[in-house]
Amino acid sequence: MIVVPVEVPSRPYDVVIGAGARHQLAEVVSRLAGVEQAALVTQRSVAEAGWLDGLDPGVPYRVHLVPDGEAAKSLASVEALCRAFVAHHLSRADVVVALGGGVVTDVAGFAAAVYHRGVRYVNVATTLLAQVDAAIGGKTGVNLPEGKNLVGALWQPAAVLCDTETLSTLPEREWRCGRGEMAKYAFLGPGNPDRSLIDLALADQVARCVAIKAEVVAADEAETGRRMVLNYGHTLAHALEAAAFGRPDAPAHGEAVAVGLLYAARLARRLGRIDDRRVELHHQVVAAFGLDPTLPAWADPDALLDAMARDKKARHDLTFVLDGPAGVEPVHGVDRRDALATLVEMGASR
Ligand SMILES: NC(=O)c1ccc[n+]([C@@H]2O[C@H](COP(=O)([O-])OP(=O)(O)OC[C@H]3O[C@@H](n4cnc5c(N)ncnc54)[C@H](O)[C@@H]3O)[C@@H](O)[C@H]2O)c1
Ligand SMILES: [Zn+2]
Repeated sequence: MIVVPVEVPSRPYDVVIGAGARHQLAEVVSRLAGVEQAALVTQRSVAEAGWLDGLDPGVPYRVHLVPDGEAAKSLASVEALCRAFVAHHLSRADVVVALGGGVVTDVAGFAAAVYHRGVRYVNVATTLLAQVDAAIGGKTGVNLPEGKNLVGALWQPAAVLCDTETLSTLPEREWRCGRGEMAKYAFLGPGNPDRSLIDLALADQVARCVAIKAEVVAADEAETGRRMVLNYGHTLAHALEAAAFGRPDAPAHGEAVAVGLLYAARLARRLGRIDDRRVELHHQVVAAFGLDPTLPAWADPDALLDAMARDKKARHDLTFVLDGPAGVEPVHGVDRRDALATLVEMGASR
């Protein structure tokens, strides 16, 4: 097993990565003082894939199912979970276990953050995206009808288990979601772009990404600055996902991130921050992860720009996370004309 520490000031913890990591759950829970029972939160599809079978928290536990998909990230889910915790006498000293992808870890983590003003939780991440991103860093929360992740809490898990065996049942689309994040990490860590990431064994790939996220989160837990780099490629990606809402050909998150990474690279070149070679490296890394950075033909540049200006990471002007001589960093006050011209450069027509 590979162990990556997350040295956040509030509450440091370990991420355990490898085949069979889920079987360390009982040991992890046994190290938490005072736990008498666990609330195990998961989804039907995760259970049907077989990942609930044999999972042992080492204490008596109840299973709580949340619905599948983004719709599960609601305040109604949090209320239902908390009421079920009360019904089963889950105490302040007990533990919540989240078994699933980012939807489960976000909603169960948020329920743990608010139940009795905060109980401990352990993430057993079963999607590639959750293993390299969502399960780590303590951002928990749910959506409102007005937008994604508008209600949440920063509440760190007590431990994260990333069992690469669980990825054996992951649908191809979910793999692409995780690969989009891995392509992002290739530009955030040492040896940037770290093309060796592409050829590593799966557990080593996950561990390398986790180590990058852990370092960034430990340096800026509350996202006052550096943590924004984790949003690399995501400003356009979020706008594309919003614009594609309801379309049958809506891109998966990782596919949108692939387009977003190339957009960020081209925008950085337009602003004189990087050269052609560096843009080409973005192409190569994205392609090596099996992703296509082509801007969808339906994309409306003005609508995308409006959505990017509304991005909650942007303050009042257009803010992007861009590559440059000092590496990837937030850049404020980008001129709308440059942002638009870069979309046109990628084939968008008005
Ligand atoms: N908190 C954070 O820092 C953070 C970071 C990134 C993303 N997120 C959130 O994560 C969510 C997306 O997470 P996701 O991509 O993991 O999607 P997800 O949790 O919806 O999982 C995708 C699908 O795969 C199923 N599944 C999960 N594990 C499986 C397995 N091993 N085998 C077969 N099927 C499995 C799920 O039931 C679901 O249907 C979004 O809501 C996003 O906002 C949070
Ligand atoms: Zn992402």
